[in-house]
Amino acid sequence: MIVITGATGFVGEEVVKQARAAGYPVRAIVREPQRAQWLAERYGVELFRGNVLSAPSIEGAMRDANCVIHLVGIIYESKENTFERTHAQATRYVIDEAKKAGVKRFVHMSALGAHENARSRYHQTKWAGEGYVRKSGLAWTIFRPSFIYGPRDKGINTLAQIVRRLPFVPVLGSGNTKIQPISVENVAKAFVGAVRNDGSIGKTYDLCGPDAFTWNELYDKLQGILGTRKKKVHLPLPIARAQALIFEKFLANPPFTRDQLLMLQEDNVGDPGPAERDFVLEQPRFEEGLARYLSRDA
Ligand SMILES: NC(=O)c1ccc[n+]([C@@H]2O[C@H](COP(=O)([O-])OP(=O)(O)OC[C@H]3O[C@@H](n4cnc5c(N)ncnc54)[C@H](OP(=O)(O)O)[C@@H]3O)[C@@H](O)[C@H]2O)c1
Repeated sequence: MIVITGATGFVGEEVVKQARAAGYPVRAIVREPQRAQWLAERYGVELFRGNVLSAPSIEGAMRDANCVIHLVGIIYESKENTFERTHAQATRYVIDEAKKAGVKRFVHMSALGAHENARSRYHQTKWAGEGYVRKSGLAWTIFRPSFIYGPRDKGINTLAQIVRRLPFVPVLGSGNTKIQPISVENVAKAFVGAVRNDGSIGKTYDLCGPDAFTWNELYDKLQGILGTRKKKVHLPLPIARAQALIFEKFLANPPFTRDQLLMLQEDNVGDPGPAERDFVLEQPRFEEGLARYLSRDA
């Protein structure tokens, strides 16, 4: 039995799908079982009501489990869902509960860019979460993906909408920092593969695609697939920051935040080799992966 947190999310669904296809029973810790009923219906997942921000609410969630895949994460803060609580404290609660239940294996979702001196709160707290995992005494594996793309992603799909609808392509800042996107299928393949791959215990893997390119190039690739040739307009960072401040103050679902702008100023690239080798990942080129779900006439 694998217990999965964050199973209702974009990455979570693909991990559930591949775990079930590999024959594992899956229990998902979900905040609202009524809203997650589709997971039970579509994939035969057992639902456990719990919020990883509250240790008592996840008591008993790990019963009879052999492995925990901990995916919960947020990209912006809202109310009690702070980065600190969601990435660091919740990871500690999930680890403590796993240990109480005698679970040995722990596969953890971090992010590329998590390191001791990270500038963004997102990366700082992902780093803190990793620290709890490393000190847990469990048989852990940590994954650090770059930008993840796939049919349900909120990143590329939103950018594609913007490119389709606006008469120009807005780019935050210079657009010269690099990313190395990976498909959600390969991210899930690595997570599910790790469950029985003892050679991955105690290792931290970058998860990134075969191509690294700048945000400017990403927009060019996107326009190539969508069949548009709109001019890029760069929004200077000080203006973007002021705009982000307004979004954060007034919108529940801000299009971008000041924390994300900090992340945008760093390259988000890594070494795909070790994960490709240990989890036998066959990586499509970015355009090829993208063209499988984005098209000119959508
Ligand atoms: N997408 C990327 O490009 C990317 C890149 C690197 C790393 N990551 C990491 O990958 C993980 C999954 O990302 P995603 O893109 O799949 O995000 P997502 O679609 O927003 O999914 C997040 C999941 O976490 C759950 N969740 C959030 N707060 C929770 C809480 N307090 N208690 C229980 N469940 C909670 C959500 O449940 P509800 O359905 O209840 O909201 C949802 O299932 C995150 O840790 C993220 O930081 C993502």
